[in-house]
Formats: sequence, C-alpha cells, structure tokens
Amino acid sequence: MRMKHITDFTIVSRKQLGDHYFALTLRHPDQLPPIAAGQFVEVEVQGNRDVMLRRPISIHDVDPEENTLTLLVQIVGKGTRQLAQLQEGDRLNLIYPLGHGFAVEGQHPLLVGGGAGIAPLLHLAKCYHAKGVRPTILLGGRTKELIPVREAFESYGQLLIATEDGSLGEKGMVTQHSQFVAPYDHICTCGPTPMMKAVGRYAVEKGIGCEVSLENMMACGIGACLCCVTDTDEGHKCVCKEGPVFDALRLKKWMGLE
Ligand SMILES: Cc1cc2nc3c(=O)[nH]c(=O)nc-3n(C[C@H](O)[C@H](O)[C@H](O)COP(=O)(O)OP(=O)(O)OC[C@H]3O[C@@H](n4cnc5c(N)ncnc54)[C@H](O)[C@@H]3O)c2cc1C
Ligand code: FES
Repeated sequence: MRMKHITDFTIVSRKQLGDHYFALTLRHPDQLPPIAAGQFVEVEVQGNRDVMLRRPISIHDVDPEENTLTLLVQIVGKGTRQLAQLQEGDRLNLIYPLGHGFAVEGQHPLLVGGGAGIAPLLHLAKCYHAKGVRPTILLGGRTKELIPVREAFESYGQLLIATEDGSLGEKGMVTQHSQFVAPYDHICTCGPTPMMKAVGRYAVEKGIGCEVSLENMMACGIGACLCCVTDTDEGHKCVCKEGPVFDALRLKKWMGLE
C-alpha cells in the first residue's frame, strides 16, 4: 500500500473561476510523492463547526518541480463555501494521495468530463502527454459558465466542448457530440453519474477499454468507515480505497447492463 501523508500546505495561488468554481494551488516545502491521475486528497475544512468531516477533492494538477498541487473546487455546500474563503498565504491540511488512479492506457484515448469531474482530467491529460500520446478531451456542462477550465487542456490534447444550451461548442450532451463516436481505443470518464453510466455503457457495448471515476459521498477517505461503498460486479467495494477509478467491466450492473 502506498504511503499516505497528512500535512499542511500553503496556498500560493487562489483563482476565482466564475461564480461556481475556484482553484487553489498549494505548495509543500518538501518534495511531493508520486501522484497518479485520478487520485484525490481529503481536505480539512477549518473555521466552520458544522463541517466536521474532511472533503474529498481530486488532484487537478501537479507540478513536481515547484512542489505544488492544484485543486479545482465547485462551490456546492457549506464545506466548499468555507474553502472558498481561503486566501493566498493560508494553510490547508490534506491527507493525500488517496485512492487508485487511471491506468493511462491507449494510443487514441478519449477523456470525458462533466461538472467537477473535469478536475482530475487535466492531470490525466498531462500524464498521457508525457507518454507522447495526445488525448481527445470532451468536456460537458449545462452552460459554458459550468466549464471553468478550458485553455489549460488545450496544451495537452484536442479539446472538444458540449453544452446543453449551446453556449459553447456543440449543443447537447457529451454523448451527443459528433466526435464522441470517433475510433478511440480507450475512454476515461469522471462526472455526473448519468453521464458516466452512458459513457461506460457505450464503451462496454463497443468493446472499448474504459475507466470510470466514481464520486460517491465519502467520510474517512481511507477505507475505514464504509460509507462510500458501491455495488460492483465483484461485490461491494470502498470507492475511496479500491477506486475512485474502476474498470467499466467491473461496473456492468452499476451501469444497468446486467
Ligand atoms: C473522489 C472524489 C473526488 C472529488 N473531486 C472533486 C473535485 O475535484 N472538485 C470538486 O469540486 N468536487 C469534488 N468532489 C465532490 C466534493 O467532494 C463535494 O462536492 C464536497 O464534498 C461537498 O462538500 P460541501 O460541504 O460543500 O457540500 P455538502 O454541504 O456536504 O453538500 C452539498 C450538496 O452537495 C452534494 N454532495 C456532497 N458530496 C458529494 C459528492 N461526493 N458527489 C456528489 N454530490 C455531493 C450533497 O448531496 C448536497 O446536495 C469529489 C468527490 C469525490 C468522492
Ligand atoms: S470514505 Fe470511509 S470507507 Fe470510504
């Protein structure tokens, strides 16, 4: 088992990305451990007594030379609202790196993200790029405001967008995008459950390798409380410890295929 760290980081940059998202870049004085794309951190939320539990947030970006990692956070409730108050220079305590990440397979991969599920795809796109592979990255949202990061992806792959209101890219869901059915040899997806089920079902039916990153509610993040359990084809699994990334072939029941 890989070692987990529980440690304070210093916020070196805070960017507000529209009304709903912000990004925090955090620096540690020591060298960061290896971090796989799809792994996540458990963030301590200080300053709000109603928020006792840490919150799971994906690792959006890693800079091993600067010892920094970046989190992309959507403001949805009391914990993320509290985190949004943080400023440059503040400390943030993390347990990391948690979970199992993506395998970074295929020569023509498609990465499909929606909502806060676009967060782990930047680090994933960089990992593909480092292997000399240029992924296609398809991001979806109801409107363009809900796709807060775009330019960063363009450095590492071909970026495609689908919005339900047509305010950016093609109009419709990601699965309706004209390039969704291009000949990919591997698909990775993270985002809203109905989206991931539709993407996973398509991949399994077409015989394309596929990894799905689940975002079940979590508490401990280390496999101790069982609150994140999901029913896979191989029985109940802790998403925090055995996921969050699963091979779609282990999730056929979850996707409604059996
Ligand atoms: C492995 C993993 C990685 C994640 N990565 C990111 C990320 O990179 N960026 C990001 O913004 N969010 C991410 N999330 C979701 C994030 O953890 C939740 O949005 C956050 O915990 C909500 O905390 P809160 O106190 O603001 O909301 P709460 O007050 O606890 O809840 C507010 C609303 O959000 C819903 N909610 C809470 N947790 C989740 C969840 N896990 N999935 C779906 N809905 C939820 C609640 O049902 C409620 O409707 C991730 C979740 C997991 C499990
Ligand atoms: S969150 Fe506690 S076991 Fe997964």
